[in-house]
Amino acid sequence: MCGVVGVTGNKNATEILVSGLEKLQYRGYDSAGIFVDQPDGTDYLVKTTGSIADLRKKIGPEVQGTAGIGHTRWATHGGVTIENAHPQFSSDERFYLVHNGVIENFQELKDKYLQGVHFHSQTDTEVVVQLIDKFVKEGMSTQDAFNKTLSLLENSSYAFMLMDREEPETIYVAKNKSPMLIGLGDGCNVVCSDSIAMLNVTHTFLEIQDGDMCIVKPDEVIVNDADGNVAERETFEVSVDPSASDKGTYPYYMLKEIDEQPNVMRKLSAEYLDEAGHPTIDADLVDAIKDSDRIYIVGAGTSYHAGLVGKMQLEKLTGIPAEVHVASEFAYEDPLLSEKPFFIFLSQSGETADSRQVLVNVNKQKLPSLTITNVANSTLSRESTFTLLLQAGPEISVASTKAYTAQIALEAILAKAVGEAKGQSAALNFDLKGQLAVVAQGMQSIVEEKNEINQIAEDYFVEANQAFYIGRGIDYTVSIEAALKLKEISYVHAEGFASGELKHGTIALIEPGTPVIGIITQAGTAGLTRSNLEETAARGAKTLSIVKKSLARPEDTFVIPDVDELLTPLLSVIPAQLLAYYTSLNKGLNVDLPRNLAKSVTVE
Ligand code: AGP
Repeated sequence: MCGVVGVTGNKNATEILVSGLEKLQYRGYDSAGIFVDQPDGTDYLVKTTGSIADLRKKIGPEVQGTAGIGHTRWATHGGVTIENAHPQFSSDERFYLVHNGVIENFQELKDKYLQGVHFHSQTDTEVVVQLIDKFVKEGMSTQDAFNKTLSLLENSSYAFMLMDREEPETIYVAKNKSPMLIGLGDGCNVVCSDSIAMLNVTHTFLEIQDGDMCIVKPDEVIVNDADGNVAERETFEVSVDPSASDKGTYPYYMLKEIDEQPNVMRKLSAEYLDEAGHPTIDADLVDAIKDSDRIYIVGAGTSYHAGLVGKMQLEKLTGIPAEVHVASEFAYEDPLLSEKPFFIFLSQSGETADSRQVLVNVNKQKLPSLTITNVANSTLSRESTFTLLLQAGPEISVASTKAYTAQIALEAILAKAVGEAKGQSAALNFDLKGQLAVVAQGMQSIVEEKNEINQIAEDYFVEANQAFYIGRGIDYTVSIEAALKLKEISYVHAEGFASGELKHGTIALIEPGTPVIGIITQAGTAGLTRSNLEETAARGAKTLSIVKKSLARPEDTFVIPDVDELLTPLLSVIPAQLLAYYTSLNKGLNVDLPRNLAKSVTVE
């Protein structure tokens, strides 16, 4: 989704902006641009509907200023055109603005205040910059005009950076719901939607809050809170090694991230389990969950799917009922809660707007919450009561892989911690440390079968119009995740289905040649899923199977090592991740940046 970067100070702005945008590409975008201002009055606006590499080529050597703003756009209002790319500017080209978010009442504002103004784009953002210009022309200072405009925005999300050509070294910044950080450098300050964009300038960032309006200059940062009072905001250090986000020798990040999963399992085990295999989770967190009467798990996309597994682990090991919700649905349902609820937010990025909206509601009710995320100091992490970090290293590919397995492993550790604290025998007897070692080994053996999996992708999926993953119980949850992986990067229409439910309607879609993959890891339902798979084969489906060793038959396609039934998703998902990867690769698609998608979904 949109990324924003800004810099002002003693350095070449262009290089900082463009390399920052390169780092934000992984979030997904369809156009990009920068505006660079210089104290001598010369300024440059460069935009492209192509890649950041195209943007770089379009920037001439004369663009040497030391202050500027940049943007990667993920279209919400208006098509993918140069005119709609940011920065947007006022009619007299005095003000330039980048924006991540959505202005819900932009049409009303346009109708009410901007009759007769010529608009050059279809964006909601242009309304904001034209309003600022109008208020300045009516006699306000830039700061007052910016504040007045912000006060007119209803139900909107934004991370704004505004530049006024009459104050070339100043960047005005405002944030509501959308992520935004200010980085403090040596002789220069930077602004960005994700610290990864600016780690080559600084590791020290300022936490700004919703409603803040900030003035960023080379040597000072002034933060005004929502009431207009000057406020102190805490700084934090980001210690991510920028080289951890390099692709190395891999053709795509997704393959690298799939391959990293065995190590992520080992790291989680070392980080969160002691020598004897007991979890080392913060006692206050364990107590808070132990005292609750119901656990509410909230997430979106792949994180929601990981939550479905977490529910099973938590219920089995702690005895506390748990339910899982799609964040965007839960946010506006006004759900009936139990007396002592505990909320768990799952989010790789920690920035997903849908999940954050639920957290805002939870915080209003002063309810306890935990965020399980891969990104320290992300919005969800900062705003929830507790945080557990996935320790998976940066996940760059839009398709989430290692974050999914890390979430499941960490949920299991958390469930064991709470279960042990409650004296539950299922938790006390669960050799999680030993099992995670088996998982890591098992993942390793599956990722080494790349050639075979590549061949199956070619034979079954590259030409397919549709595909189905089916399973029961925990295998059903993996089916949904497996289907999501396939559709998001290979554009094959895929569904994950409860295998017993297929015959109640959806089996009508099975045609000769339709690939159907059965996931079979649970002894109690293995026979049933096999029968359901047979039913599709009888109607012409090309069937495949992902089966746990102790349940396997000679004709099975992928045999995964035996592991505790609560951890099987950690292994059964790996062939599915690789099938999706090779299908996308063999179709010649951009695996890491699939069409229409964004890594960090910061609008609702
Ligand atoms: C998964 O491959 C996705 N691209 C997507 O579903 C993602 O999991 C979802 O947008 C939630 O993101 P989060 O984990 O960062 O909150």
